[in-house]
Amino acid sequence: MDKRAQYLKIRKKQADIDGVVCVCKQVTERRLRKAVKEGRRRFISVKQATEAGSACGMCQPIVEDIIKDEISER
Ligand code: FES
Repeated sequence: MDKRAQYLKIRKKQADIDGVVCVCKQVTERRLRKAVKEGRRRFISVKQATEAGSACGMCQPIVEDIIKDEISER
């Protein structure tokens, strides 16, 4: 199993349990959305605030989707 497939498998399991998006840093979708609500609108600033995407980086596309989604809900 490649690294990406492994990430997706682990993420799905943890997302079902407690909403974890970033497996490496155990960052939940709720925490990411909170960072956007607090004014962070770019991946880099959300990464600095939450540490999501600061290890393997596999979660970056999903984190970016959540940022876009949260911004569009305003
Ligand atoms: S899953 Fe590895 S940095 Fe987010």
